[in-house]
Order: sequence, then structure tokens, then C-alpha cells
Amino acid sequence: MQSRIIQYTSEINEFKPASAAELEEFRIKFLGTKGIIKDLFEEFKSVSAEEKRVLGKVLNEFKKLAEEKHALLKAEFEENSEEDTDYEDLSLPGSGFEVGGRHPLSLVRKEVVEIFKKLGFIVAEGPEIEDDWHNFTALNFAKEHPARDMQDTFFIKKDAENGDIALRTHTSSVQVRMMENGQPPFRAIMPGRVYRNEAISARAHCFFHQVEGLYVDENVSFADLKQTLFYFVQELFGEGTKVRFRPSYFPFTEPSAEMDISCSLCGGSGCTMCKGSGWVEILGCGMVDPNVLENCGIDSNKYSGFAFGMGIERMANLKYEIKDLRLFSENDIRFLKQFQSELV
Ligand code: DAH
Repeated sequence: MQSRIIQYTSEINEFKPASAAELEEFRIKFLGTKGIIKDLFEEFKSVSAEEKRVLGKVLNEFKKLAEEKHALLKAEFEENSEEDTDYEDLSLPGSGFEVGGRHPLSLVRKEVVEIFKKLGFIVAEGPEIEDDWHNFTALNFAKEHPARDMQDTFFIKKDAENGDIALRTHTSSVQVRMMENGQPPFRAIMPGRVYRNEAISARAHCFFHQVEGLYVDENVSFADLKQTLFYFVQELFGEGTKVRFRPSYFPFTEPSAEMDISCSLCGGSGCTMCKGSGWVEILGCGMVDPNVLENCGIDSNKYSGFAFGMGIERMANLKYEIKDLRLFSENDIRFLKQFQSELV
């Protein structure tokens, strides 16, 4: 028995199969249920106790050798066969890739900007990290105005002497930068991101987007403001959209107003979006306060102007009925995909 095992051992050591089928033959021959090893173990049962002591070890090692050889060769064959099929089949159709879409906020911003461009407004931008002067003081905010409070503003540096540094809370700061750097006429639209220290919920976020508008020239009146915004609303929400102005207060405009439009969802008959009133608020506006013009080095006796500011999320909310603000910044592909067709 031992000599047979020695013979089989050299057979196994020299075994080099040319095909997977040959390897399978090898497995059946040695390791199969009716194979050599099975037979040897049967035979082992009837040898003397003395022989068993020596043969037991030899037999087990032989079995291990056969198993390892088989496992090794099998792995080699599998690897090679993978290589064989891993070729490029150029006749197959392409596997395609996902095309991105514009973010809904970018779509709305673009639409708003395009409308104002038709009226001759240029696009201007300013920094998101602002100083107290541009975000508040030049805009006629009184020193103790609550909007300067820590609750609303993300302060980066508190500096009583040289002015605080903060993340801008509105794009009105860009108005100031624009007016400081030139003389009227100004006709600009200023889109950008703004920050407020608010708890994140469906209706509030710590950052959002605004579009600011500014028009300063000789003899600019509230009638110009009304007509400009009326035109804007017809373009963005469709012909026949009604507008109404409600008196309001902003430190940087006098008089100030908030503008409502007839609800874009129900057309004014009353729904959940307009809370049954038929009207939805879309922006703040007013005539630039003479103090602001003077703060920026502009002669308020010669020039007058109007300004307005609106939230882009608000416009998207009305246009696409996106009710939860958080969706805009979650980057959920399922949400963003819905705007994929709008590759404008
Ligand atoms: N800055 C205001 C805000 O963030 C919006 C605003 C209101 C801008 C009236 C204006 C304006 O230019 O005239 O709530």
C-alpha cells in the first residue's frame, strides 16, 4: 500500500492538465466518491494496528497533497478562463452613463437673470464673507437693529473697532459695493448665496439664495419699480399673474413694500400653498433710502432708485412645488433627476 502511495504521489506531482476536463478526470480518479483515496481509506481499515500507526500519517498527507494540487490547478483554470472572456466585444451597444441635470435653483436663477437681462440689467456679484459696513451699516441698519443679533448672523470675527466680519445675511450688500464703485446709472441684478443662523427645518435653512435688483438713475420712481416687477412676474409665472404691494419696512428702502402675486398653483381661488388667500408673497422692495445713496457717495438730491430682493428657493418652491427647503441641499439624486430634462 505504501509503495502504491509513493507511485501515486509522483503521478500527482507531475500532473499537468491541458484542459479543465483533464483536471476533472484527475479529481474523479483521486478524490471522487469512488476514487483512489476513498479506496485506500477502505483498505486502511483492515491493516494491522502496527501498520496503521505509520500508514495513517502517510495516507492523510497523501490526501492533503491531492486536494491541494486540485485546488491550485482549479484556481489557475478559473483565472485563465476569466481572462479568456474578458475581451472587449466591440459589437455590443455602449453601456451608457448618467447625464446630470441642472439643479432646480440654478434653473430658477438663470430664468430670473435672463428676464432682467432683457430689461438691460447687468449681473453683479459680491463676496459671501462681508463686513458690517456693507451688510448692515451702509444699508441704514441702526446700531441696535435685531438683525445684527447673533441669532440671525453668523459672525466670523467680532471687532467693535474696525467692524465685525460675518457671512452676508442678504445680497443687499452687493448693492452697496456696486454703488461705492461708480456713479449712476446702475441697473443690476445680483444673485448669490446668503447665510442666517437658523435651525434647519422644512421651512428654514442656514443658507439659501437670493437675487437682488437695483436701479438708480435720475427720476426713477415707484411707478418704474411697479412696472419692472410686474413685467418680471408675467415672464416668470405667466401672463395674467396679478400683483399687489403691501406696505412694509426695510432699513434700506423708503417707502418699502412686500409684493404678492396671485397664487401660481390655484390661480387665486385659494389652496394650501396660498393658505386659502389666493396670494403668495414673493419679494421685498422699495425706493432706495436717500441715506443709503449718501453712504455710498451718491447725490440723493440728483438720483433716486429702487431695489428689490427675492429668495430663489421661494421661486423654485412656487414654480416646482418643492415644499421642503432641505431637498435643495441634500444632493439626493432621485430629487435632482426630476429636473434632468431641463438641460438648458
Ligand atoms: N434684503 C432683504 C432680505 O433679505 C430683501 C430686500 C427687501 C431687498 C427689500 C431689497 C429690498 O433690495 O428693497 O430680506
